Amino acid sequence: MSRPASPILSTRAIPEAGLRVLRDSGIPFEVRKSQDPPGRPELLRLVPGREGVLCQLTDPMDARVIAAADRLRVVATMSVGTDHVALEACARRGIAVTNTPGVLTEATAECAIALLLAAARRIPEGDRMVRAGKFRAWGPTLLLGVAVAGKTLGIVGAGRIGQAVGRRADGLGMEVLYWSRNAKPEFEREVGAQRADLDDLLRASDFVTVHVPLSDETRHLLDARRLALMKRTAILVNTSRGPVVDEKALVAALRAGQLRAAALDVYEREPKLAPGLAKLENVVLLPHVASATEETRSMMAVMAAEDLVRVLRGEEPKNRVR
Ligand code: DGY
Repeated sequence: MSRPASPILSTRAIPEAGLRVLRDSGIPFEVRKSQDPPGRPELLRLVPGREGVLCQLTDPMDARVIAAADRLRVVATMSVGTDHVALEACARRGIAVTNTPGVLTEATAECAIALLLAAARRIPEGDRMVRAGKFRAWGPTLLLGVAVAGKTLGIVGAGRIGQAVGRRADGLGMEVLYWSRNAKPEFEREVGAQRADLDDLLRASDFVTVHVPLSDETRHLLDARRLALMKRTAILVNTSRGPVVDEKALVAALRAGQLRAAALDVYEREPKLAPGLAKLENVVLLPHVASATEETRSMMAVMAAEDLVRVLRGEEPKNRVR
């Protein structure tokens, strides 16, 4: 098989600041033209001979793709999540995998809070009403939402992003519960957060926000049984990974009035939605954009590109996953 002209492949055009890093490295690179995610067949054609792949969370860098990448030394994903990369297969071949932690914390937390408020105050419903010309007059019971201040927020996964959401919730006057493998004493001191067992947190919270990475342990962490533990008045927010929530069970729970509402940035089979989800009035739906600010995406692109170049120069990357 002939070797590709560029040892580096970026599977998508990334923000200019990241492209500049690649350009300045002097190492030839190719940016795939399409802005649609590559499927496995295309990756299998593109990766042979590459030494570095700068990928996105949509790209199935699975064991077959890694096996086809015969000269691969680094996979730099422009994301904090790494569930799309075959980490074990990379580790076996000594291929470095890097990600972009930290720089998307605040943007993602802002989006989680935006979703929480949007669902609580029924903002998309109001927007739809006004656009449809259905706003006839102010009304004493028009589009009543629920207050956030004084309510309890349950944070499922209190890592960097979960804690950043907790700080914002504290600023909104909310009580904070969290579920996490380890206690977070500093977080507890800072926002008065209390650690809880997951089932207890679900029973006690008025709002639940999900911030765990996707793994075998967290797939369907919020299944039908756990969704049924939530208050009928509760609102669920998910900006982590879709498969953490059983989306079909969520639709059923929302339909049955087991939950007040859900606000989602991520889906189980992105970009597909579970049947019936988009028909519900009591959901707020975003297209996986929690980290999508100009500032954050530039930082993510730079981080991924810099680490990729570091590895190809024989240096240690700053954000090695394994
Ligand atoms: C990530 O980086 O994993 C996020 O989901 C991107 O927004």
